[in-house]
Amino acid sequence: ASEDLQVYLDFAISLAREGAQLILEGSKARYVSQGMVVSKSDPTDLVTETDKKVEEVVKKRLKERFPQHKFIGEESVSNGEVLVLTNEPTWIVDPIDGTTNFVHGFHYVAISIALTINKETVVGVVYNPFLNELFTASKNSGAFLNLSTRLPLSHPHPPLPLPSSLSHCLVLAEYGHDRTPHVIDKKTMSIYNMLTRPGDNRWGDSGKKAGLVHGVRSLGSGALNLCTVAKGQADLYWEVGPWVWDVAAATLILEEAGGIVVDAYGPDEGPADFLGRRFLGVRAGSPVPGDKTGRESQLRLAKEMWDV
Ligand code: IPD
Repeated sequence: ASEDLQVYLDFAISLAREGAQLILEGSKARYVSQGMVVSKSDPTDLVTETDKKVEEVVKKRLKERFPQHKFIGEESVSNGEVLVLTNEPTWIVDPIDGTTNFVHGFHYVAISIALTINKETVVGVVYNPFLNELFTASKNSGAFLNLSTRLPLSHPHPPLPLPSSLSHCLVLAEYGHDRTPHVIDKKTMSIYNMLTRPGDNRWGDSGKKAGLVHGVRSLGSGALNLCTVAKGQADLYWEVGPWVWDVAAATLILEEAGGIVVDAYGPDEGPADFLGRRFLGVRAGSPVPGDKTGRESQLRLAKEMWDV
């Protein structure tokens, strides 16, 4: 990493560790029974005292250390701060990604910290203290698990070639918090199309192609879904609905691990718009003959996904 980026990365790691300590302490509280968990705008969008405490601490430390930098945090926005992403250096923080998992004791929970410059993430840290997995990346310097293992992982499973078709993929997809019937209908239709054979479409002949993927999984954390794809343990992550704080850090981690993140609706081949709330990540993999970087193969899968 360049010297500056290394300074930012080290600081982000120390903040993630401090936040993680609070998350572990908070996990001892019996949230649901003590009424310490409340819903935000959607009834399934939960927040706990720990989310608020972690964000407060991280925000305070950042203000002290980098007073000129901007800050975007999930709970600050929930409390009425306006969500604007400018070209200024901006720290984007999700104190707990996977709050529902946190409340239920399902250990896919992470603190996510990103620094963007010119609206691009240059440093990303995602830390799951329950599984003790620290994912880090800085621009052009690769992505790592627990600081020393380069992503994607090559042990214990040797990396599989990237499937040439969606029908051989393991997909991570989420239902999200917006349970409005028409939103859930659209999402379940896309997931149905991923799961079924072409021509099986019980939703009517929409002209969409179906997939027959190997499987669909939901970890309940956008950040950890992307990091799992960065590890190479799943082929794709698809979600409509996540916020910038869910994905800003993990996007860089996946890209630095050789993957791509694009708009889940396509067909724009550029990076996904961070505020657009539609993300499709594809992992790195051995390229098909003639495709040196793998990008062509990744975009081919993305295109199939845009069609479901
Ligand atoms: C949520 C998680 C979940 C995703 C939602 C996010 P939160 O974040 O990442 O997997 O489906 O879109 O909002 O609320 O736990 O920080």
